[in-house]
Amino acid sequence: MSINPIDDRLGKHLSPGDRHYRAFVSHPDNYDIVAALQFNLLTSLGLREHHYLLDIGCGSLRGGRLFIPYLLSGHYFGIEPEQWLIEEGIKHELGESILAVKQPSFAHDRSFNLEVFGRTFDFLLAQSIFSHASALQIKACVASAKKVMKPDAIFVANFVESNENYTGHEWVYPGGSYYTLDFMCRLVEEQGMTCIPIHWPHPVGLRWILIVHPQQANRQFLKDMDVVTLRAERDAALARLCKIESHPYVMFGRTVRRWLYALLQRRTH
Ligand SMILES: C[S@@+](CC[C@H](N)C(=O)[O-])C[C@H]1O[C@@H](n2cnc3c(N)ncnc32)[C@H](O)[C@@H]1O
Repeated sequence: MSINPIDDRLGKHLSPGDRHYRAFVSHPDNYDIVAALQFNLLTSLGLREHHYLLDIGCGSLRGGRLFIPYLLSGHYFGIEPEQWLIEEGIKHELGESILAVKQPSFAHDRSFNLEVFGRTFDFLLAQSIFSHASALQIKACVASAKKVMKPDAIFVANFVESNENYTGHEWVYPGGSYYTLDFMCRLVEEQGMTCIPIHWPHPVGLRWILIVHPQQANRQFLKDMDVVTLRAERDAALARLCKIESHPYVMFGRTVRRWLYALLQRRTH
């Protein structure tokens, strides 16, 4: 079977983890939507162009290709151990000229030392990082994040929510690590930070959390996120209702009711 040249260039025929800048970071079919979801979530939480963003494990700039043009020059920072991913992301998604215009900064550290840039941040992002990291790596990341988060900073992360916890010590990829929500919140709280689970879509169902300094836990953005949560709950309830209403027993019950009603009508006239 021949592959359409555009799909070929976008790595659509490849599997997650293959050595292609889109496939290496996840299923290539989700590359665009996961970029949009990250960008929309952070801007919904208040990200503006003057803020400083740290993108932890920025990969091939899936999110960076939206964040870098949006932020003011010198305000985007990415950590990514695989330097080739950043180079390919710039080559295929942004173009070299972005480097002079927007002056993003990159580091290739793999020890979750977020102090490498010697500055603090308004927003931190770990998209599809805690879904591959061990508990020790997550602890190191949150402990380091605490040192570089401004007092009102928001750290946005996601992970695979499960009924059990991954107990290994290694980064897992392809494949991934998984944790209960309680365990994840405990990891965060052990570092003296507050963990706030939120509802925000993700094509493979990763669970989003916000990590903030404890004195920030009652901020307005949480009330805004409540609206999103309520919408998500309403959509889930509607989906459940549609499923119930189309069940054969319910449809049969409706037919019987209509039939009984018609019969009663006939008797009373
Ligand atoms: C599943 S990809 C997600 C990439 C990106 N956040 C995105 O949404 O496309 C995970 C990324 O984490 C990077 N990574 C692996 N070990 C890391 C570490 N110790 N610190 C930071 N990033 C790491 C990988 O190289 C890979 O680019």
